[in-house]
Amino acid sequence: MLSEQIISRLTKIVGAERLLLEAGELQHFGVDRTTIWRANPSAVVLPGTIEEVQQVVLLANECNLAIVPSGGRTGLSGGAVAKDGEIVVAMDRLNQMLDFNPIDRCVSLGAGVITAQLQDFAAERGLFYPVDFASTGSSQIGGNIATNAGGINVIRYGMTREWVIGLKVVNGAGEILNLNRGLVKNNTGYDFRHLFIGSEGTLGLICEATIQLTRPPAASTVLVLGIDNFPAILDVLRVFSAEIDLSAFEFFSQAALDKVTEHQGHVKPFETRTPFYALLEFETANESVLESAMALFETCVEEGWVLDGVLSQSLAQAKALWKLREDISETLWHWQPYKNDISVRVSRMPDFLREVDELVAGRYPDFEVIWYGHIGDGNLHLNILRPETLSNEEFVAKCGSVSAEIGQLLAKYEGSISAEHGVGLLKKDYLHYSRSPLEIKLMREIKKVFDPNLILNPGKLFD
Ligand code: MLT
Ligand code: ZN
Repeated sequence: MLSEQIISRLTKIVGAERLLLEAGELQHFGVDRTTIWRANPSAVVLPGTIEEVQQVVLLANECNLAIVPSGGRTGLSGGAVAKDGEIVVAMDRLNQMLDFNPIDRCVSLGAGVITAQLQDFAAERGLFYPVDFASTGSSQIGGNIATNAGGINVIRYGMTREWVIGLKVVNGAGEILNLNRGLVKNNTGYDFRHLFIGSEGTLGLICEATIQLTRPPAASTVLVLGIDNFPAILDVLRVFSAEIDLSAFEFFSQAALDKVTEHQGHVKPFETRTPFYALLEFETANESVLESAMALFETCVEEGWVLDGVLSQSLAQAKALWKLREDISETLWHWQPYKNDISVRVSRMPDFLREVDELVAGRYPDFEVIWYGHIGDGNLHLNILRPETLSNEEFVAKCGSVSAEIGQLLAKYEGSISAEHGVGLLKKDYLHYSRSPLEIKLMREIKKVFDPNLILNPGKLFD
């Protein structure tokens, strides 16, 4: 509970209508997409300018209050969960497009702009913002930056980090930093911008960003292939990427396809059932790319890697094929899945996946595991579905042991416990499997430099 005095000071900063204290509002703003923690913030504020954000942070320092920054709350690791009486600072009102420059092909915008709005803004000007994922309709650009969001086009365009050329942030001490200012080249020492990208709200509140845009791709074709076994997916990746610039190379298991077709009513890509499916996308500016793709498809069939396939013949069909992959995440919420978001080098994936499969099947036989992910990036989403016999608490506890064992395997394979979703609350106990004690010590020290009183998103990333 906040004191009357703090409530009155917050009201002075943001205005009475922008200070939310009702239970329903606190619930709404206090959680992300995870279902493990209960929202319990003491207040939600909706600042309208970077100066208001700054004043809230200064007040929090003075009165020793914790802050949870909040964007679209589509995160999957608890990074935006406020469970311990924190003040949620929601960026929804910083939602303006501020400055577009066609020569630099960049746009400055508020952190609260919805990702899809940025994509549309670019398209309307004959340009392209290439970071794309299923929740672009509600995620905010500030949250994308704070988590260095990845998605389905990373193989071609990289992660959010690649597209951020400027940032305005309020750090934990309440100071405003204007970082890199839209420059393409700027070798003037430490690039703090990149520290804030992916810092999960632990160093500062991202208020404004300048985003590089690019030329839109030519029309694209989608190919879905039914694949005989996991190592064969990588053979397919190897031969296709040797000849064609892929903009996506995704995969999902038969179990994932069954769930998405049953629950969303989507049509199967073809009748043949195969253990795995790969979804490839590539630009088809000319006929010769399609000819190469067909020839590669035939090679893959002859080698016995691919058992069936379908090539999109229209934009509508391409979109329908994408839905088979993109709707998996939403479909699985029905089972309150425990999400693992892991990566290893692409070349090590078959051995790694075999070991994880053996581990889960041997030690946790009552768990149903659904595999999908961005295989071209070495990023696997391993979702464990909750058996009806287990309560949510029992299930989460058991999954915690699975994660620790997978963490040990990841350490052996020199992989990452979080490829793209971030660490948040969900994975902080496993951080040491991916980062050395020295690295974690340095991260804590860096946090103290930018957030000396440790008021920003406490308990996220590490304790
Ligand atoms: C995806 O690849 O679909 C997203 O990262 C979401 C998820 O893993 O569930
Ligand atoms: Zn993903």
